[in-house]
Parts: sequence; structure tokens; C-alpha cells
Amino acid sequence: MGEDILHICKNAASLLLSMPRSSRIRVVSHYDADGISAAGVLCKAVSRVGYNFHATLMRNPFTKGFDRLKNEKNKLIIFSDMGSGQIETIESLGCKAIILDHHQYLTAQTSKEVIQINANLFGFDGNYDASGATLSFLLATTLDPGNEDLAPLALAGATGDKQFIGGVRGLNKKILEEAMQKGFLTEETSIKLYGETTADALFYSVDPYYPGLSGNQAAIETLLEKLQVEHSTKIQELPKEKLTQLQSYLIFLLMKVGCQQNILDMTIRKRFIAPQGWELERFADLLDACGKNGRRGLGLSLCFDDGSTWKDALMVEKDYKQKILNGLKDVEHGGIHETEGMRYFYSDSSSLGGVVAGIAMNYVLDEKKPLFSLARKQVDDEVHVSCRGNQKLVAEGLDLGSAMKTAAAELGGYGGGHKIAAGATIVYDKEKEFLQKVNEILIQQRKRRV
Ligand code: C5P
Ligand code: ZN
Repeated sequence: MGEDILHICKNAASLLLSMPRSSRIRVVSHYDADGISAAGVLCKAVSRVGYNFHATLMRNPFTKGFDRLKNEKNKLIIFSDMGSGQIETIESLGCKAIILDHHQYLTAQTSKEVIQINANLFGFDGNYDASGATLSFLLATTLDPGNEDLAPLALAGATGDKQFIGGVRGLNKKILEEAMQKGFLTEETSIKLYGETTADALFYSVDPYYPGLSGNQAAIETLLEKLQVEHSTKIQELPKEKLTQLQSYLIFLLMKVGCQQNILDMTIRKRFIAPQGWELERFADLLDACGKNGRRGLGLSLCFDDGSTWKDALMVEKDYKQKILNGLKDVEHGGIHETEGMRYFYSDSSSLGGVVAGIAMNYVLDEKKPLFSLARKQVDDEVHVSCRGNQKLVAEGLDLGSAMKTAAAELGGYGGGHKIAAGATIVYDKEKEFLQKVNEILIQQRKRRV
């Protein structure tokens, strides 16, 4: 592991510990699975050292939260899974800050009040080697090596950001190997199917999304009849040969729609189970559903693991998955516009739009162009943009984070993110110009690689 990152984590830990124990540590994190896990890791770590904490899960970038943070007169704020895109804003808060981020950064230079721990600044690839939760884990274990039991939570965050596609790498790999050695995670090879019954598990399977089967009760009943499986049978009760038949059929469905090999490889694979009994990706799905379906606090309380919130979270998740299924249906049934460099569709909700775009990119549309979701918010005079690519396009030169940053900045908006997944906010009546600019940038990115 890079000495530099450990060194800066030590500085950050010293800064934190220089706060009197009577102070309340402010944690601001992103509201997706990685951000919630990151906040969970940090809140547990600071409370174990004896601090109280106050955590808020926000959108990245935070705009509406700014006044609130400014008015709170914090002495120290820890930003996780966000911050590197808003150094100036954070500096203007006038307090000390620790940033734990893996998104593309704007500048390596910060004022002495701000410690920026961005994976990309320390030789790690922020897309795959380390997530916001991974970096939070690094700070937590620097504070106290005893926090290594938080590895499953941290790695759930990394899977939530799809960092394991193509294999576990970088810091994630190191943390995973140590957690396995110490018994904080066990391994099994399986497909991702969960739910009260087999029929339920298939119906609500959105990632992987099985075109023609997910969300389609009639098709599921026909399939289960053919397999001679009662639709109320639990997944764990399926006889081995039935499970094998079902898995083969599901893989066949994915191959039929031309799913990329790295996505197929993610379907049946080694999975890692926490002592609490949850598999990493399954837990990340639950956190993501809470965060993006209006129950951010419930997501964070799941990280505190007394089991009492699990049932509530399952209900939130079902509702959320139905919304995703509805969004995917719209995309499948002609809701897509296409230009030379990109495809796009409209969505009522920006966060849901981003999720639908990611799933549609991997399981519904062909791999050739990135997919954008636009959410028009006329009352706020804004359009929220979310975009998703795939590994093949990134290998060929696609950089959505930089495209969003450049196009949005030229039109007085703001944008950024990763090469494979990014977002932007622009003024309402600049949508057409924005789409034209992004299209040009994407065409240029493609030309550069030819
Ligand atoms: O909002 P959405 O989920 O589509 O964002 C995709 C990624 O881009 C997220 O990791 C988000 O934090 C990042 N992003 C950003 N700057 C923006 C919008 C999104 O860094 N203005
Ligand atoms: Zn993240």
C-alpha cells in the first residue's frame, strides 16, 4: 500500500483526535450505497474513540446543504465519497475539513485547513481500486487498528459503486484479503437472487436485469412451471439441479441480449459474506434503495446492525425496485433519443434516472454509446443529468466525468464524476445547447482513440 496515503491518513487521524472528546464530529457523505457505507464506517469509528457524531447524507455536489453547514459553525467536517469536486466551496466554510474521495479531483492543492485524501492522488484508480467507503476504512483503521471489523461494511460500499467489475483490485483487494484471513468475511460462489420466494426474487431482479423476465409475472410463472418449481418455493429450498437449470436459463437470457463478458462474469461469481449473514452486494443494494428512495437515515441505521431496521428496509427496497422496473420498461419501449455520440431519455427523478441508465446500459441497450438521463426540474430552473458508460467504452477513451465538467462549466452549470458514471446540473433553458456540446465532446473523445 502507498506509504503516502497512510501518512496522510495519520495526519487526518491526528487532526481528528486533536478535537476535545466533548465535541461532536460532523460527517457529510453521499446518499448512495458507497456514501452510506462510508458514513457508517466513520460514525462507528469516531464513536468508538468516544466522540458523538452528526451525519448527513447529501447529493454530490452538495448545494442545498451549504447554508446549513455554514450556519452550524463546525470546527471539523469529514466529507466522504464527495468533496474533491468542491474544494473551493469547502474552503469557504471556514472550518477544518478531511475529504475522503475517489471521484475525479479538481486540484491537488488545498488550503492548510483541508486535508484531501483522494484515491487518484495517491496512485490508486478511483474507479476500481478504492471507493469512498474504502478510504473511510483506511482512516478508521489508522485511528484504531481494532476497526478492521468494519471491512465488510467498507467493501459493501465498494461493490455498491461497482468497483469489483473485472475483479477485485487495489486497496479493495488488500482489505478483502485481510478481512478473509481474519474471518470477517467468508466466501461462496453464487448468483445474486434474493427475495421471499423464487418468483419474488426473479420479479425484482433489476441488476442483473433479465429482459423479458424481470418485472414480468406471467413470464416468471411460465418459466417456473416448465422447471416444475412452485412459485412460493424459497431460493434456499430449490433442489440443486433446479437451481442449476434456473441459473443456466438466466445466463442464457443475458447472453441473448448481448451482455458484455465482464457483466456476465459478475452474475455467478465469488461472493463475500459478512458475519451478520449478508452478502456484500445484497447489502449494498439495500443501502442504495434506502438512500435513493427517500429513506437516507434508515440506510445509515442499517450500518449499525442491530437487525431491527432490516424489515423496514426490505419494504423500501421493493417499492424502489418497482420504480426501477417502470423506468426500464419506458426505456425498452421507445423512450430513447439518439445522436451520433450518445443516447438519452427523460426521467422524473434524477437519482432514479441514473440508476435506470446504468442498468439499461448493461442489460438492455447495445454497448456502443453512453446513456444519459435528464430530469427537468422547472421549479428550480434546473436540469439534472446523469450518465453511464461501460468498461469497453472507457477503454476506448470515454471520460464522462470530464465531458460533464467541461460542458456544464461552459454553460454556467457544474458537473463531474468518474469516467464511467458522472452527472451535471445545468440551467433549465440550456438543455439543448448542453446536449449539443456533450455530443461534440463525446465524438472528439472517440476520434482521439481511433
Ligand atoms: O448523480 P449521479 O448518480 O448520476 O452521479 C454519478 C456520479 O457522478 C456520482 O458518483 C456523483 O457523485 C458524481 N457527480 C459529480 N458531480 C456532479 C454530479 C455527479 O461528481 N455535478
Ligand atoms: Zn463512491
